[in-house]
Amino acid sequence: ETEYLIAPSILSADFARLGEDVERVLHAGADVVHFDVMDNHYVPNLTIGPMVCKALREFGITAPIDVHLMVKPVDSLIPDFAKAGASIITFHPEASEHIDRTLSLIKEHGCKAGLVFNPATPLHYLNHVMHKLDVILLMSVNPGFGGQSFIPETIDKLKQVKALITASGCDIRLEVDGGIKVENIAEVAAAGADMFVAGSAIFNEPDYKVVIDQMRDKLAK
Ligand code: DX5
Ligand code: ZN
Repeated sequence: ETEYLIAPSILSADFARLGEDVERVLHAGADVVHFDVMDNHYVPNLTIGPMVCKALREFGITAPIDVHLMVKPVDSLIPDFAKAGASIITFHPEASEHIDRTLSLIKEHGCKAGLVFNPATPLHYLNHVMHKLDVILLMSVNPGFGGQSFIPETIDKLKQVKALITASGCDIRLEVDGGIKVENIAEVAAAGADMFVAGSAIFNEPDYKVVIDQMRDKLAK
């Protein structure tokens, strides 16, 4: 049976009280902390870097931290994020000059590695590197902002990637990010996703546990 992981995106958390808010969402039943890094270059927004990741670890957060790098160049940030306590590091292949090298760099630093695909990024970037991947992240919105609507074409793409993972025989998580809500999580899981990023759907509600429980309920059916 699939073990589903719920990964709240802290992009929609309260940055003025980040430690407490992350603690709260984990206490509400989240599995993984999704950490969005934006550089105002690869994407048109600016967020947080390794210092904030390190601060969360020092605050006492022990859950896996899933660092989603929306930056260009990529490689220079990897050692810093590994030292700051990242568990998983994913990047957009078109933002790296040498995809295989970047994946090796992440693994050499002791983190799990993954590639992220924007809605229109072709899947051929998976060729030749499947054996190096711990996760494949499909964006179901264009990266840069929380609170956008799920792009329905992602469903077909998820099915394609799921088939590629199965054919490869590799143990690779299929993560989805953008516009995930209680209303669509079951359909997204049916298409093959097993790790769900949700920002606004969780953090914009007063009781995180209510939303996470509803999501798990949909996944159990
Ligand atoms: C978007 C980020 C997402 C975002 C998701 O570029 O990668 O992680 O926070 O937010 P929601 O769940 O609100 O679409
Ligand atoms: Zn993200």
